[in-house]
Amino acid sequence: MAGLPSLERWGSLTTRGIHVDFPFFLAPMVGLSHVALRMTARSYLPVGTQTLLFTEMLSSRRLPTERIGDRPETATEPVETNLVPQLLGNEERFIDASLRKLEAMRPAAVDINMGCPVTQALKHNWGVALMGDPAYAERVVRTTVQLSRWPVSVKLRTGLNDDLEYLLDFCRMLEDAGASWITLHPRVASQHRRGSANWDYIARARDAVSIPVIGNGDVQTAADALALVERTGCDGVMIGRAAVARPWIFWQIGEQLGLPPPPGRPEPAPDDGWAEGREFHRAFERFVGIAEPRFEGRDARKRVNFFVHWGARWLDFGHELWRRVSSAPDLTETRARAAAFFEKPQRMTARTVLRT
Ligand SMILES: Cc1cc2nc3c(=O)[nH]c(=O)nc-3n(C[C@H](O)[C@H](O)[C@H](O)COP(=O)(O)O)c2cc1C
Repeated sequence: MAGLPSLERWGSLTTRGIHVDFPFFLAPMVGLSHVALRMTARSYLPVGTQTLLFTEMLSSRRLPTERIGDRPETATEPVETNLVPQLLGNEERFIDASLRKLEAMRPAAVDINMGCPVTQALKHNWGVALMGDPAYAERVVRTTVQLSRWPVSVKLRTGLNDDLEYLLDFCRMLEDAGASWITLHPRVASQHRRGSANWDYIARARDAVSIPVIGNGDVQTAADALALVERTGCDGVMIGRAAVARPWIFWQIGEQLGLPPPPGRPEPAPDDGWAEGREFHRAFERFVGIAEPRFEGRDARKRVNFFVHWGARWLDFGHELWRRVSSAPDLTETRARAAAFFEKPQRMTARTVLRT
């Protein structure tokens, strides 16, 4: 049986309030990693286990002037005790003011985005642009660590270029600057999410530092998640796109590791494409049930549509579900159309071609 990542490196963080015994994480994703998806994913965690759940990136220029909880991006539920808000930014005064605001989210830790490759981030020297200037990136991490009451982590890419030695030096610098762990998505900036993630770099980064290294990139199934652990020795696995499509991947992983099922689900985890198709509808209903009362009408519809846009790619007829749902005038109609679609059994494929 495949094994759980080693928890050894996480152990030293317990004195700082980080309790992780199921190191499989939902990735930060703009428009997706809000309270509705986090709560949906959480409902599939093996009972009694602890993981961390990341928010999407939050602009450190915007946070200081807003009220936490007013937007879907910052809304939380009281049970969310192990939240890791992700900050996008690089200026001390904005980071300082943002950290004060984040207090209201009761975070377990704060993550710094050094992976975002969009033009806007590059222009402002945010996101992956920070990887082009290690001295500056070091200052950002040191400053954030000094200002933060919580542990600080960094999510990064391979970098602006495919240069392994540069990446390993950068990881060592992050550790020296006080990062409590790092998450590596091993693609260069210009790839965005195209091509494939170079998992070998995750193994090399793990050898280069002594803090936990979370591996990320191209995990589509529970077997992929466990293969990533096996191949790289990483201390955790972060799952993005596939966790939107099959948030029960956390249940499937737990089952393979011999952990208990999620609360209220004593049956085996969905284990074939048809069972996954049925579970998709259940997860969708749960997601809509959380989004509808928590977000304003337009915000809720937008996020439900975005969830289907990404998640339905693994359904054989996902484009049809997307077509029907995206043109629905309100969530009552959205639900009805989804229910009609799932009246006929639907099959999910284990893996799909991920182009974006
Ligand atoms: C729609 C979307 C939005 C994303 N937004 C963020 C973000 O806010 N912060 C971040 O660090 N990464 C972001 N990512 C990247 C993911 O966290 C992850 O690194 C990437 O999708 C690779 O993992 P995967 O193959 O499991 O999806 C985003 C990805 C997607 C698909």
